[in-house]
Amino acid sequence: MLIVGNWKAYVESKAKAKALCVSAKRLASKGEHEIVIAPAAPHIGLIAPTKVEVKEALKLGAQDVSITVGGAETGEVAAGLLKDLGVSYVIVGHSERRARGESDEIVTEKARHALAHGMTPIICVGEVDRDPEAHYLKQVRAQLSAVMAALSTKERLSVVIAYEPIWAIGKSELEAITPNDLAEMVLYIRKVLTDFMPGRANQKVRILYGGSVDSSNTRTLAAGTGIDGFLVGRASTDVAGFAALVKAVS
Ligand code: PGA
Repeated sequence: MLIVGNWKAYVESKAKAKALCVSAKRLASKGEHEIVIAPAAPHIGLIAPTKVEVKEALKLGAQDVSITVGGAETGEVAAGLLKDLGVSYVIVGHSERRARGESDEIVTEKARHALAHGMTPIICVGEVDRDPEAHYLKQVRAQLSAVMAALSTKERLSVVIAYEPIWAIGKSELEAITPNDLAEMVLYIRKVLTDFMPGRANQKVRILYGGSVDSSNTRTLAAGTGIDGFLVGRASTDVAGFAALVKAVS
């Protein structure tokens, strides 16, 4: 599975970042899962030098990327810089970024910058709420279609989709999605993808689930739901908790 730890802004000390990184390296070196850590941008710089030298299994991710291409853009972290630090994956369109005004157009542009630099965008989609009439499906379709329509066929095949229902983010494992609902959603997302790719190519796109994932629910959410991995927030910032989570899906 592809297991991505999105540290968000939880980690504020170098010592904690290093401890999480050492532990994640150990998990990645087992080779059973593809492990990615997505620290805050300055911590990518802290972790990157050793990674580039030793080329270990652990992959680096970024939580966001600039919509600009760099240059006279105060405060921006452009795709070229991330690539140079050894970043492989870039999370784009996380609901916490969308809540700050990031439109589908911006998400698309960011995904293109990542792709143009040989990094894999993890495109986040997910509804705010569930309603009995299932209008939430339209919301997910619209988010997914907006990005896919703007990418070339080759680009579409190299993205990762993270389904993260907003109502399930940052809660307890009791409020995470049920395996049945997740399985339905994965089928739905793959169905939407058929509009944008030939034949059975939609089956090859990796789909992650995110939202209140921890070591107590990963196993049930992974079994038979059709997901290819997890995008983990809070639980990825606890050394023992993240190790237990990875072990639970092994
Ligand atoms: P959470 O966050 O695991 O803390 O719910 C998931 C995410 O937003 O990526």
